[in-house]
Amino acid sequence: MIEISGAGQVFGSVGNGGVRALDGIDLSIRDREIVTLVGPSGCGKSTLLRLISGLVPPSEGSITINGERVTAPRQDTGIVFQAPTLLPWATIMENVMFPSTIMGRADDAARRRAKDLLAVAGIADFADHRPRQLSGGMQQRAAICRALVHDPGILLMDEPFGALDALTREIMTIELLRIWANAPKTIIFVTHSIPEAVILADRVVVMSPRPGRIAEIIDVDLPRPRDFAMSGHPEFQRCAGRIRELIFGEQGARFDVEH
Ligand SMILES: Nc1ncnc2c1ncn2[C@@H]1O[C@H](COP(=O)(O)OP(=O)(O)O)[C@@H](O)[C@H]1O
Ligand SMILES: [Mg+2]
Repeated sequence: MIEISGAGQVFGSVGNGGVRALDGIDLSIRDREIVTLVGPSGCGKSTLLRLISGLVPPSEGSITINGERVTAPRQDTGIVFQAPTLLPWATIMENVMFPSTIMGRADDAARRRAKDLLAVAGIADFADHRPRQLSGGMQQRAAICRALVHDPGILLMDEPFGALDALTREIMTIELLRIWANAPKTIIFVTHSIPEAVILADRVVVMSPRPGRIAEIIDVDLPRPRDFAMSGHPEFQRCAGRIRELIFGEQGARFDVEH
């Protein structure tokens, strides 16, 4: 359903102080699939997500969704960034309603949906508060509600739990899987946490740096529903181990070189 074909991104002009952030990315993502993107910092994960979102056009190649070329942000896509990026002067409810408001669809059904989402996220009591009155984790939950309010078929998430403490992060990951199980949608999720990448994914896309390319795509054959207790499962360990190998190289080989 999402087809990325030969996508590349160059910032500035190459050979003249420019940066090649992505090179020859080919990836097909199925409807209702959860794909996680992992790779070292600067390998182009955020850039790839921005290309899929339509916020930035690719310098090379193409991205299509259901056969339509992506040229601008689409109404069937929701985005969550690493920082909550809420409007500081608006209430939490107004922030969550924002996508519906700008699409001219801020009706009673949308308001009911916003309320339900706030309840699921455990912040219903803060609907009339301003963002600064909430903790970082609560603000990020509001940002996730905002991305879901217009019920998009595609959810793009760029290290959405990166700023949260480890415990809240695990809870939010499982919560996201619960939301997905109730209303399956296509999710592309960027993370630098290997356990998070494995627990969420149908497939983990491991990227290599400079220029950003796909190093390997790993199928995660773990049953759903999932939880972090599965980190002892042999399939979890196989996937996590392979991702580590791809990112850090094989320990043995490195010691051979050093000694
Ligand atoms: N707007 C931009 N202008 C110039 N260079 C950029 C821009 N955005 C990203 N880059 C560069 O592209 C590369 C990939 O960045 P990014 O996609 O943010 O990586 P990641 O999210 O994997 O950490 C980095 O070298 C970064 O410095
Ligand atoms: Mg990034």
